[in-house]
Amino acid sequence: MDTTDICRMPGRVSLNAHLYHKGKIPDALRHLILDISRAAKYIQFAIRTTEAGLAGSINQYGEDQLKLDVLSDEIIRQHLSESRRVASFASEEHDEVIELDPSLPYSVAYDPLDGSSLVDTNFAIGSIFGIYEGATFIGKTPRDQVAALYVLYGPRTLLIYSTGNSVHEFILNEVGEFILLREFLGIADDAKNYSPGNLRAVNENGAYKSVMDGWLSRALTLRYSGCMVADVHHIVSKGQGVFVNVGGKKYPEGKLRLAFECGPFAYIAHHAGGLASDGHSDILDKKLFTIDQRTPIIIGSSNEVRAVCDVLSR
Ligand code: AHG
Ligand code: MN
Ligand code: MN
Repeated sequence: MDTTDICRMPGRVSLNAHLYHKGKIPDALRHLILDISRAAKYIQFAIRTTEAGLAGSINQYGEDQLKLDVLSDEIIRQHLSESRRVASFASEEHDEVIELDPSLPYSVAYDPLDGSSLVDTNFAIGSIFGIYEGATFIGKTPRDQVAALYVLYGPRTLLIYSTGNSVHEFILNEVGEFILLREFLGIADDAKNYSPGNLRAVNENGAYKSVMDGWLSRALTLRYSGCMVADVHHIVSKGQGVFVNVGGKKYPEGKLRLAFECGPFAYIAHHAGGLASDGHSDILDKKLFTIDQRTPIIIGSSNEVRAVCDVLSR
């Protein structure tokens, strides 16, 4: 029997219905994304109900872990393990890849809580996921992702996904379902907003100072919160802008990680018509050698990304 009629797109479109009709993906990937979205609901509940203290432990980068970092990581781990669609996964909070079952179809890289230093200020924070086909993503590039998504825990909880067929935005409703808010989001070629991460690097990185001076002289609008999910979402939501995080002399690769942060956002920016570069090459083509690999990133409106890269490479 042809199921197309029975499963016709309903008026109020759930994440599941959208993945089914517009995702153009196998059922296993649809179910994995739904399992991840379920984890995100528990995280947003934990954010509202958990005290914002330190967990008393440090992660692989020597950063203090918040209770919420640890809790969010555990929630995602549990959902990925129980999903039975994940061969292996790696989290920003751990220094090794967790291997579950090599016969399962996908591997996942995730940042359980991005912007966690902002928890006590009640600013927006997020979770980021990159999904690859096969038992491991090591040796692959972010272009090999079959899906990327992020969840923004702000005044509202939003989920944004791409499976290679543009970028779509969902809102968590009162009964705990992600419902379509906007679909086929695009990023225009020119930026009116700029988001300068690791700005302290201008003291040792003269090229970054020139970039900043350029933005100031052109009177672009500053939009920077300190949470990459919120700051890149600003670009996705407004349909234009540029986000930069580059290093200085001491840490030329900057702070942000290719597997957990830059790779998934590069995939989403690309499928919204934007660009993501490390200053020289497309982030989508950078090979993942280790899980803790860092990269500079310039992401957003293509003309502005190219212009920033030009100045940085002078
Ligand atoms: P995390 O909380 O996962 O460690 O990541 C925080 C990141 C990112 O979200 C943000 O863009 C960047 O740190 C902010 O760095 P600066 O404060 O140095 O600009
Ligand atoms: Mn992060
Ligand atoms: Mn994090």
